[in-house]
Order: sequence, then C-alpha cells, then structure tokens
Amino acid sequence: MRKIDIFDTTLRDGEQSAGINLNTAEKMEIARQLERFGATVIEAGFPASSPGDFEAVQRIANTVKNSTVTGLARAMKSDIDTAWEALKGGQQPHLHVFLATSPIHMEYKLQKTPDQVVDIAVEAVKYARKFFPLVQWSAEDAFRSDPEFLVRIINQVIKAGATTINIPDTVGYATPQEYGALFKFLKENVTGINRVKLSTHCHNDLGMAVVNSIAAIENGADQVEGTINGIGERAGNAALEEIAVALHIRKDFYGVETGVNLQEIKRTSQLVSQLTGVVIQPNKAVVGKNAFAHESGIHQDGMLKNRETYEIITPELIGETTAPLALGKHSGRHAFKDRAITMGFELNDQQLNEAFAEFKKLADRKKEITEDDLFVLFTGKQIENSDASIYELTNVQVQYGTSNVPTATVAANVPSGENVVVATTGAGSVEAIFNALELLVKGHVNILDYRVTSIGKGRDALGEAVVNLRFNGETFTGRDISQDVLEASAKAYLNAINRKLVKDQTQVRVKEMVGQ
Ligand code: KIV
Ligand code: ZN
Repeated sequence: MRKIDIFDTTLRDGEQSAGINLNTAEKMEIARQLERFGATVIEAGFPASSPGDFEAVQRIANTVKNSTVTGLARAMKSDIDTAWEALKGGQQPHLHVFLATSPIHMEYKLQKTPDQVVDIAVEAVKYARKFFPLVQWSAEDAFRSDPEFLVRIINQVIKAGATTINIPDTVGYATPQEYGALFKFLKENVTGINRVKLSTHCHNDLGMAVVNSIAAIENGADQVEGTINGIGERAGNAALEEIAVALHIRKDFYGVETGVNLQEIKRTSQLVSQLTGVVIQPNKAVVGKNAFAHESGIHQDGMLKNRETYEIITPELIGETTAPLALGKHSGRHAFKDRAITMGFELNDQQLNEAFAEFKKLADRKKEITEDDLFVLFTGKQIENSDASIYELTNVQVQYGTSNVPTATVAANVPSGENVVVATTGAGSVEAIFNALELLVKGHVNILDYRVTSIGKGRDALGEAVVNLRFNGETFTGRDISQDVLEASAKAYLNAINRKLVKDQTQVRVKEMVGQ
C-alpha cells in the first residue's frame, strides 16, 4: 500500500496559536509522545525565533530517535546557521526552509520581484544542503501563487538540492477540488518531482484543512502536515488524528497507510490539550469527549443489538479503553506504579515516590482517584521543575460573604528567598486574589483570559485553572490543578509569571552558550 508520511508541526505551527506557550520540558514531553504516535517528522520549533525555541529544538533533536526532527528557518543564512546548531545532533538532520511565492506576499511582505524570490530560494536551499542531508522547501502561500511560477521556482529548488517540496494553503482559502488539481498540475509539470517528497500543509480558515489534505494525497502528495487536535494560528491546522483515522477507516477507498500508531491517539490528544491549555470541543471528530457517546434511545437500542449499526470507529482503535478500577486511599505503591506504566509514563524512583506521596494526600480528600486525575498527576510529575518555582504560593485565604467586600491574603516565597504576605480586596474572590498577587510580583499585569474546568466528574473532582496574562509587555499562559479552584487560580497566575521569568533566564543562558 502507498505510504503517506506524517509531518507533525504541533510544536511549531501549533505553538504559534494565541495563548499557547510551552516550556522546554513540556515540548520534550509532547515530542516523546509524537514519537510514540508514529510521526515521521516532528517540527520541534523555529530555532532562530527565540532562545527558548533554540533550546527546545536542540534537546528534542538530541533525544528523539524514531522520528526525524526538523526546525523552521527563513531563507537566510543566519537562520540556517542557527538551525544547524540546534539540529546537528539529530539522527538525520532535517531543515524546513520557507519563502513566500504568492504575488501579494512577494510584493507587499517581501518587497521582491519574482526573479529575486527564485534567486533567494535557490541560494537558501544550496546553502542549507552544505549542512543538512534533508532539506524541505516550502512555498509559503503556495495555493494563492501563480501555478506556472510555482513550477519555475520548484524546478530550481529541486536542482539546488531540496529533498521535500511543500505546497501550503497558508491562509486556508482552497477548496478540495482546486487544491487537488494544483497537486496534479505540479506532478505533471515539475521536472524531477518524483525524485522528491511532495508535501501538503493546510490551514483551517474555511473548515476544510482535513479534506484539502486528503485531496492532495489523492493527487500525489507523499507527506501530510498538521497538528494534534488541529491547534494552530487562527482556525488552526489540519488535525492529524482525523487524517490518520479517516485514511485508516476508509483504506478501502484511499488505498494508503500512514504508519501512525492509532492506539496512541487518545493519549497524544489528551497530553497536547493538557499542556497547551487548549480545550478539545466535545463533538470534535475522533478525540472529542462525545465522539463515541450515543444519546438517543434509537441509537442506544441499535448499539445494543449490533455496535456497527451506529459505530464506524471504536474507542479502542484510538486507545480509549474502558477505565480500569479507580485507585483509592488503600491502594498500594505497587498498584500505583503498575498504573503509571500501563498509562505510558516513565517515572524514575524519586518521581514515583513523590507522585505516590501526592496521590496519598489527594486520596485522603477525594474518594476515588480516576484515570483523568492520575493522568494529570503523572504528567505534572514528569515535567516538574521546568518552571522552577521562582514565585511559590505557600498560602491563600479568602474572606467572602454576599454582603462583604471580598478580601484575599496570599503568602508566597519570592525570588529574594523571603516569604512575603500581601492582602487586598477585589470585586470578587478571584479578583481579590489576582490583585494581591499583582502587588506581590511588582509589575503590571493584565488578565487576558481566565478559565476554570473540572477534571473528570463528581463534586470532588479536581479543578483546573488556566490564566492567560500580560506581564511586563509579554503574554503568558499559566496552569494549575488543585482540589480547590481558588488555590488552582492563584497557582496558575504565578505559573504564568514564572514562565516569563524562566524565559528571561533561558534567553541569558542560550546567549552565553552561543557566545553572543
Ligand atoms: O502555513 C504556512 O505556510 C507555513 C509555512 C512556514 C510552511 O506554516
Ligand atoms: Zn502553516
């Protein structure tokens, strides 16, 4: 069967979405999971864009073994040099270099003539091939480019040594028929197109990213690009889990295979959602929480008689198994360790001991510890210390009454090493806490978004708080999970502040490392 390579850009195009900021440990965790998911290529970031991206790409390239790791670069030597520094330790160094080819991008953004654009692209690919055995060249905004110009420039970049050619629908404007026809045209008209990999990369502005990607595959694409849960700028990218499952369920029709380990889909989706803070819509195909729920009586009756009456995908296919018995306060360390392993976590002894101690504390306050609770607990342990608790909440207390002014008192360890206590009021309990924390961090903080959700079901469910804020001119998202939503909110706020401070520290560290 024809093989379609999966190029995952969750950590680059996905991370570019508003409000997402992953630290290096979180990116590493996602990269390791993408490797298990079976991504052929993992785009780990854009090394020249920030020291944080550089560091994450370098660590991922040095760690991941079963997927090719790539990084993005503009068509300029300095970007390519930086990318090489980040990627050279990888198994098979791969670069993704791009340049816009549509009339509007060339004229207004690049302010270059088409001839100049061809020269820049060729120079960049030739230069990249001095270092990288694998070079993907992308024609940004390819779908809105002149197809004859695309043929001309692609002919030249293939001659210059590109090993993959990517044809993005950058603004999500294509229809499946048109996008498929463009692939057919390029297949028929570009010299040497069969010697390189041809790739599709779709955005979802008109809700057609998945179907456009499949149209490209039907018309000769060898590789499909996208993100987990379809996250990405604006309306997002093509959702890879949907493409993988559609091609699998309808292999009778499409006749292709992806090599994706379908059983890892649920876990990958859950991890990306948890670490990015991007909630999955309940009715989302394949991974939404209602994707396998049958509500109506007629459907339930049919399902009881024969599941295939209404079920074309089984939850088991994507690794969603019936939850095993919940653990409780009497569960022992052995059962706890076994569960961590079954759930795919690789915790060392110290992490396991710490996780077990937290589990016991939680089990004293919560009757049943569910799979969802364990997932957040184990994930948290695996990525711990990544945001080095520069500010660490030690106490939060709120006085609230329907006819009183809410007052919050917070205590926290601060960077100087002291424990500082601050109290102030607000229009509500959360505002009072946030006002007190603003006094503590001594900067100007704007809250852009704030959300509280429950993990799993029941009145004693854990609460997750996500705070998106602007601190000293930069936007960060913080998360925390706790049994009390006010405590989770205070910790999520400080988590966002700590991310900013860790980012500043990384900047200094990487600059020292590369000698700037
Ligand atoms: O959408 C796009 O054009 C991109 C390129 C950088 C490949 O993401
Ligand atoms: Zn894109």
